[in-house]
Amino acid sequence: MGIFFNRTQSQNDEGKTNAEGGKGKVIAFLNQKGGVGKTTVAFNTAFALRAQGKRVLCLDLDPQANLTYLFGIEDVEGYSLYNLLLNSIRELKGLHTSCLVSDLLVQKDGVDLIPSSGDLSGFELTVAGISVPRQLILKKFIEKNGLTHLYDYIVIDCPPTLGLLVINSLCASDGVIVPFRPDDFSRKGLNAFYEVLENIDDMGVVKVPEILLHVPNLVDARRKQEQDDLVNIVNQLGSDSKVMEPIHNKSQLVKALGQRKSVYDYSSKEYAPLQESFTKIANVIEEWAQ
Ligand SMILES: Nc1ncnc2c1ncn2[C@@H]1O[C@H](COP(=O)(O)OP(=O)(O)OP(=O)(O)O)[C@@H](O)[C@H]1O
Ligand SMILES: [Mg+2]
Repeated sequence: MGIFFNRTQSQNDEGKTNAEGGKGKVIAFLNQKGGVGKTTVAFNTAFALRAQGKRVLCLDLDPQANLTYLFGIEDVEGYSLYNLLLNSIRELKGLHTSCLVSDLLVQKDGVDLIPSSGDLSGFELTVAGISVPRQLILKKFIEKNGLTHLYDYIVIDCPPTLGLLVINSLCASDGVIVPFRPDDFSRKGLNAFYEVLENIDDMGVVKVPEILLHVPNLVDARRKQEQDDLVNIVNQLGSDSKVMEPIHNKSQLVKALGQRKSVYDYSSKEYAPLQESFTKIANVIEEWAQ
């Protein structure tokens, strides 16, 4: 599955040699609640950024490997991001394998991916005894491989937890996009997530990522309760928080995901509102990254 990996424009140039003269941004798509659309929004936003001419790398940090599946890989047999992360930890030499980023990269319509595998569910246990900071493994991996010099954006699809993988993702990210479903459970879940951000801030080791956007997803416009819950959540988030207009529950999106395609692969006009939504998310990211 390995394909091309061109490091020529970037290596060892200490943050200054990406094509546009800056460092790429790392963005996590995150919510500890399951099934809110993290993978769906990450996948389509990656292609929205690609459509704007950006170089995008997706990291599938979820052992469920749903993003990996959308890139056309059913079951990762062999190496995955898990192995690359272990390889980057000197103390775990006994577990090192010969794989490189370039061996694992998968490409789909101009967007790259480092795939996940079920092994990632053992990540937390595997690194439990190491002496270097466990929450910075992903950040160091990205730095060591110069990935922010090779790509304009690194999109991370997170698992539905607040465990070590997600803490790693937050410590490695510059920005966070939070898809959510407008219900009462989400409101509680978002509070827990903000507490984690505060804890990371308290550690004082990394700059806390900026919350770029909340994305209400899977909204059913006909259900009054959802509208009320959405208003409550928006009020609770406060006026400083950015919340975009809802993405509705759309059969077109289900169809596209079933065919492992982004909404930009369709030209019929029923896909136009979805394309508009994901382009808006990409625009928020682009404006912030300037
Ligand atoms: N706007 C939408 N309209 C219709 N279906 C959607 C929409 N967004 C997501 N879905 C569907 O909802 C399900 C959950 O979406 P997705 O897998 O992206 O959520 P997730 O937050 O990544 O889940 P997990 O926490 O398990 O990783 C998927 O089957 C997806 O096809
Ligand atoms: Mg997911």
